[in-house]
Amino acid sequence: MGFPKEFLWGGATAANQYEGGYLSGGKGLATADTITAGSLKEPRRIFIEREDGTREAINRFFDVPKGARAVVEDGVYYPSHVATDFYHHYEEDIRLMAEMGFKAFRLSINWTRIYPGGDDETPNEEGLAFYDKVFDECLKYGIEPVVTINHFDLPLHLAYEYEGWLDRRTIGFFERYCTTIFRRYKDKVKYWMTFNEINFLRDYSTLGITEASDYVRQQQAIYHVLLASARAVILGHEINPDFKIGLMIASMMFYPETCNPLDSLEEMQVTREMRDFYYDVQCRGTYPSYRLKEMERRHMVLKKEEGDDAILKNGTVDYIGFSYYNSAAISGKKDKEKSGGNQMGGVKNPYLEETEWGWPVDPVGLRLVLNRLYDKYQLPLMIVENGLGAIDRIESDGTINDDYRIDYLRRHIVEMKKAVEEDGVDLVGYLPWGWIDLVSAGTGEMKKRYGFVYVDMDDAGEGTLSRRKKKSFDWYRRVIETNGEDLGEGE
Ligand code: BG6
Repeated sequence: MGFPKEFLWGGATAANQYEGGYLSGGKGLATADTITAGSLKEPRRIFIEREDGTREAINRFFDVPKGARAVVEDGVYYPSHVATDFYHHYEEDIRLMAEMGFKAFRLSINWTRIYPGGDDETPNEEGLAFYDKVFDECLKYGIEPVVTINHFDLPLHLAYEYEGWLDRRTIGFFERYCTTIFRRYKDKVKYWMTFNEINFLRDYSTLGITEASDYVRQQQAIYHVLLASARAVILGHEINPDFKIGLMIASMMFYPETCNPLDSLEEMQVTREMRDFYYDVQCRGTYPSYRLKEMERRHMVLKKEEGDDAILKNGTVDYIGFSYYNSAAISGKKDKEKSGGNQMGGVKNPYLEETEWGWPVDPVGLRLVLNRLYDKYQLPLMIVENGLGAIDRIESDGTINDDYRIDYLRRHIVEMKKAVEEDGVDLVGYLPWGWIDLVSAGTGEMKKRYGFVYVDMDDAGEGTLSRRKKKSFDWYRRVIETNGEDLGEGE
């Protein structure tokens, strides 16, 4: 009983929040490099430049008007530029992972480190060599790299010249990037994921398109992303049939707020729109009927080419990677008090406590999600993000007693264990988010920390970047050592 012997315990990161070195080694600019810091109250922004040369800062999720583009503004702090500097600390960091007994490490490759402009003819050797060093270092300790091919960034040049994913040619550029990294790392990396939280790609910074909220433009761009993902799966299998290539979807558990059938109906629609549509396409290889009907109602005709249907069909994934932080209660009524959550929230759920950032904490929801996904898609599952963003305090003796983080993780592991032991879900790994402190994607803050390791860096980009173990470091080391049997007090 318990977790399988080969269970992948580890942790997760993303280049734009962790790596830094934003122009080092020939790296090009990515959309993520144009997003400022923010907070729970102040949104992250992007500076846009209009055709007439005027500049203005707008909420990063707002539409960039046609003809305008995001720029890096002088004198403004951009958290991705240094982040927590994995670029210069990778040896030290991988040693720390090894000390905790990591079996796997999830990281993303920066597209702009390999193809600085996105449409370059040849790759940047210095960028490729950097990831060689990273993977070699991991393998030296027996740590399996789990690689996200694209995590919330896009070469800025592709946004400027092609409107990013709106242009079908971007699929070709992405294929070139995938072919390069698949060939280069085919003997070092086995687990891949195509797009991080593909269900949250909907704005300029992730899709590279102006007027991104326009339904037709957005749906066409998403179609191209889904095709690109399927092409990547096909290509990867041609290059190495042993590759395991997965999807990555933010997978909150949605509940109807009450047993009013109208709340249930609303919940069903939200689940489809925000989560399951992306599963249906990537696991079943075809657009589901509800989405086709919706497009029909909105008079949208997808621009397709011959052979596209076969690409989607043949490019279904080998496994499911997903993030889980919170659940969301859904109501059919509009005037309800809202709660926060990972990129989207629901209405207040009186049964759940919330984090300092207002995200409901719901370990049982994780068990439910695991079961729902396994029932429906019958594919191996990997939790590739889960964790608690919280403010940590360094005590006068230098310790960081993050019992709240231990408690959060323990309760989630308890539920995932039940999903494995009692429900028979095929769960292959657990890679909690931000195993080391890194920049928050949502707010751009450093003080929203997730790590087992503290990094000396603050919200203004000041700090020595030195690393320090938190109390949770030893706790997680023990969890891994006992394959999830010893979860410490509070079990
Ligand atoms: C997921 C992302 O949305 O959640 C990560 O894949 C992100 O990039 C994580 O960091 C936690 O969200 P946040 O906003 O607390 O950083």
